[in-house]
Amino acid sequence: MTLIDGKAIAAQIKSEIAEEVKQILKSGGKRPHLAAVLVGHDGGSETYVAGKIRMCEELGFKSTLIRYEENVTEKELLEKIVALNNTPDIDGFIVQLPLPKHISEYKIIETIDYRKDVDGFHPVNVGRMTIGLPCFVSATPAGIIELLRRYNIETSGKNCVVLGRSNIVGKPVATLLMQKNRPGDCTVTVCHSRTVNIEKYCREADIIIAALGSPGFLKGDMVKEGVVVIDVGTTRVPSPETKSGFKLKGDVAFEEVAPKCSYITPVPGGVGPMTIISLMNNTLLASKKVIY
Ligand code: GUN
Repeated sequence: MTLIDGKAIAAQIKSEIAEEVKQILKSGGKRPHLAAVLVGHDGGSETYVAGKIRMCEELGFKSTLIRYEENVTEKELLEKIVALNNTPDIDGFIVQLPLPKHISEYKIIETIDYRKDVDGFHPVNVGRMTIGLPCFVSATPAGIIELLRRYNIETSGKNCVVLGRSNIVGKPVATLLMQKNRPGDCTVTVCHSRTVNIEKYCREADIIIAALGSPGFLKGDMVKEGVVVIDVGTTRVPSPETKSGFKLKGDVAFEEVAPKCSYITPVPGGVGPMTIISLMNNTLLASKKVIY
């Protein structure tokens, strides 16, 4: 069994990006600039956005954080997005989700200029990804594909089961793994909360991408010997042992499943670190104008 070290791969990509930024600046090019819009004070969102801003600093990117209180109107937010679209120095920006209930996430995402949509959530980017055109691919699916690539894991012709059908992970990762590409060329099955006999699909899978947000869902008796397991779950469960008062729990019962795997990602330290670095890579691509 090989433990997929997302932390190490992310660190490697981080130094590759930092080096490229140095070269760009040396030759008189533009410093990549990411803006992040954060509404309200949700603990998870605060942590994620702070991590993104910190990573920008570490890579030599410029960053701008724009904060709004929970009661900001949809109109005000939409106006800000139009302003960001029209600010040439900003290469890409994100609006951290979830948003308060009175704001339509769909309207917000559609208003972002797809050429600055480094989250890859805009329908143009999703559509272009689906038909295999250059686009911004959302960070978690891009990070998963990069892990498979860098570990040289064979995907062609494999049975891949994706657990979960979210717009952010399940659907895009299923799309990417079915593409005529490397990694890709899988026979993909997407299972979800209404799937009948989910165990049967899992037991036949060569590769399982678990993105349900259900801690410990995938048990040892649900997988076959030699399976590749990518655990995308990051549920916060209370823990008196940690300083923050919680710890992250994946969708996989790691102790039971790992001994049967050829490769498996841990939580934390698997997919998580790849997500933020993939966003940074998209920002670099946006600043280089190589996609649009
Ligand atoms: N909320 C959870 N994940 C993400 C993400 O990747 N991007 C944004 N904008 N919000 C999120």
